[in-house]
Amino acid sequence: MSLYEDLIKYKNEGPYPFCMPGHKRNPEFLPGEIVDITEVEGFDDLHDPKGIIRECEKKAAHLYDDSETFFMVNGSTAGILAAIMAVKGKNGKYLAARNCHKSVYNGICLAGAPVSYIYPERDKKYGYLKAVDPAEVEKILGEGAGPSEDRIREKYYGVIVTSPTYDGVVSDIKAIGDICHKYKVPLIVDEAHGAHFGMDERLPGTSAGIGDIVIHSLHKTLPALNQTALIHVSGDLVDRDRLRYYLSVFQTSSPSYPLMASMDSCMELLRDKDRIKGLYNRLFSNIDRLKEALQDTGFSIINTDDATRLLLGEKDGRPVGRLLQTILRKEGIEPEMATDKYVVLISTLCDTDRGFDILIKACKKAEEELGNMPLPEPAPSGPLPGTISVFSMSDAEGSGAKSFIPVEDSLGSIAAGPVFAYPPGIPLVTSGEVITEDIIKEIDHLRKADIDLKGLRDGKISVLRMDRNM
Ligand SMILES: Cc1ncc(COP(=O)(O)O)c(C=O)c1O
Repeated sequence: MSLYEDLIKYKNEGPYPFCMPGHKRNPEFLPGEIVDITEVEGFDDLHDPKGIIRECEKKAAHLYDDSETFFMVNGSTAGILAAIMAVKGKNGKYLAARNCHKSVYNGICLAGAPVSYIYPERDKKYGYLKAVDPAEVEKILGEGAGPSEDRIREKYYGVIVTSPTYDGVVSDIKAIGDICHKYKVPLIVDEAHGAHFGMDERLPGTSAGIGDIVIHSLHKTLPALNQTALIHVSGDLVDRDRLRYYLSVFQTSSPSYPLMASMDSCMELLRDKDRIKGLYNRLFSNIDRLKEALQDTGFSIINTDDATRLLLGEKDGRPVGRLLQTILRKEGIEPEMATDKYVVLISTLCDTDRGFDILIKACKKAEEELGNMPLPEPAPSGPLPGTISVFSMSDAEGSGAKSFIPVEDSLGSIAAGPVFAYPPGIPLVTSGEVITEDIIKEIDHLRKADIDLKGLRDGKISVLRMDRNM
């Protein structure tokens, strides 16, 4: 079997996707013929757009907040890396929410700069991370306030938050933006999971035009091919030439026209307000149908801020998430991810009635199967472990000697690389940070929940060899 043959088989026989990409392989939203070209005459240049690509980008900007918008073909990842590099100055640091995606950590590591973190609270029952508290941002930026505005700008290059989170939790970007702007610090919003925001009144509003840089993965929640993304820049705190330069650094010099055409088709669809309204009506009536069907079961949809992000958990919060994921897969549903306590299902305007029929049937089957099993009692989720950084990520990354030791023996060692579950790709610990008791407990907890942790090798964690380093 070749990869292509496997893909065709999966397309014909695979489970219904309650996961990315947002087009859900629904032929109604997939491109027709694929025309793969290079930058031939008349087709512009993504890295210096003046013609048709610039026009497409303007159309996209208009749909969001009339910020300046750039197409991206290397996912939100490239946009996040470029944004972090574009705001970097001298002798300062970044301020980031600790629940950022690994691309934020990678960007900060590449920038070779230090970072301070804001630790969002956890929901005690289900364990998902809640919104970034604007008061925390005010406290930290305010503490850095010096005699002049320049002093602040020097101290924090930028504030980086992820909103919405994988779990659909939205932070108050307007309040955070106002605080950042008071101190003249640019706000970077990783809105990778919220490209659909603002497209229907039942959805949260977009952060484009509020955050100085806002990044959207089109492929996550809208009908566009994998890797397609937008970056919006507004205000005058960000040097747009630097941003453009870093976008060309982090993106391929052979941008795919099928990907760019897919983005433009997505924008055309979004411009058709009546069709969008109809598609969201269908989606929300299917979500209501699912909720109604779940009423007589032990499951419910946990409400966060994005009603299209379906967190399916046990009503009494018992840790069945992984088990539920396994049963759903067996019953023809591919979820996006699972924690120990819930399963994340991504629904989009491309979902069909048939997809929800399969999901409802699968949930009923899961109820039957789980009903016959002895299940563990719920345990409240503790706070996100705090972290102590001894070396910057870049110093730790570049420092050479590393060794792998058993996690249980690593207390007090300094991590030589990140450890994270993917998805969601939020590091529990990263390069240069002390491995504390809380971190060891968290790793242990996730391993017991059968969650695959990246960065571990045969149960061992990579640490700096302090006899040979620094
Ligand atoms: C919060 C968040 N930001 C950024 C990214 C990176 O997005 P992309 O896959 O478009 O590069 C992801 C990927 O899942 C993510 O979850």
